[in-house]
Formats: sequence, C-alpha cells, structure tokens
Amino acid sequence: QTVLVVNGPNLGRLGVRDPDVYGRQDLATLTRDCEDWGKQLGLDVQVLQSDDEGQVIRWMHQAVDQGSAVVLNPAAFTHYSYGLADAAVQVTQAGLPLMEVHISNPSSREAFRRRSVISPVATGTITGMGFYGYRLALEAVAHLLENA
Ligand code: DQA
Repeated sequence: QTVLVVNGPNLGRLGVRDPDVYGRQDLATLTRDCEDWGKQLGLDVQVLQSDDEGQVIRWMHQAVDQGSAVVLNPAAFTHYSYGLADAAVQVTQAGLPLMEVHISNPSSREAFRRRSVISPVATGTITGMGFYGYRLALEAVAHLLENA
C-alpha cells in the first residue's frame, strides 16, 4: 500500500527556519524517518515537498488516481487554500485516508493559524508532536487501511 507524505511551502527549510518551533532536523531527516516508519508498518512511503500550491494539489489528484493514502502537512496552505481543500476532499471521497499533520501546535500560535480549511475534509489531524506526528499519522493510516 502506497502513502504519499506531502509537505507544503517552507517545509524544505526545516532545520534552518524557526528551530525553536520546528526543531533542528531537516527535511532529509524527516524523509528518512518516514521511510523507516513506513517499512516498519508495511507501507510504501513516498515523501514529497513543494512550495507550489498547484503541485501540492496535483499530488492529491495523483493519490486518487493511484489509490494512495495521504499524510499531508499543508503548512501555510492550511489556513487559506480552498483549492487544496477541494483537492483533499477528493482523496477521502475516494475512500482513501488523509491524515493532516502539523509539526507545531498551530492553535497555540498566532490567531491566523487557528483556522484550518483542511481539517474539515481530513480523516484526522495530529498537531504539536514534532516529526513524531508523522509516525502517528502513518500508524493511523496503517490502522485505517487494515480496518477498511
Ligand atoms: C505548520 C504550521 C503552519 O501554521 C505553518 O504555516 C507551517 C507549518 C506545522 O507543521 O506546524 O508552515 O503546518
């Protein structure tokens, strides 16, 4: 079973950007972690990152077309991208799990981060757990697929 782990804008800057909020580890480390966790869970994980909204949307279409589950950190798109929300809902409507992940806890930060346009269309949301949140999301995907 394949899982697309999709990361939105500025997440290529992990390790450099705001380390007090996002930690000191980079995207390459997160990628390796997710691949290892995937192996342990019997999932074929592909980790992707783009700063481009259209690209992130097209990866949702790709997930639908190839029947992949999705772990999505929409980053700032979380807060305003109805285009991405419309793409994400197609994933769950296709019967595929879509777990929303945030490294930080957006609710404890600036007011504009309190709203997610993705949460209403996600299967579930994990926040505030650092990179470990991706592991929790992959476990949730494995559980959901087993019980589908
Ligand atoms: C984030 C939280 C968002 O508010 C922010 O725009 C990000 C990262 C997180 O992982 O905590 O870029 O999604």
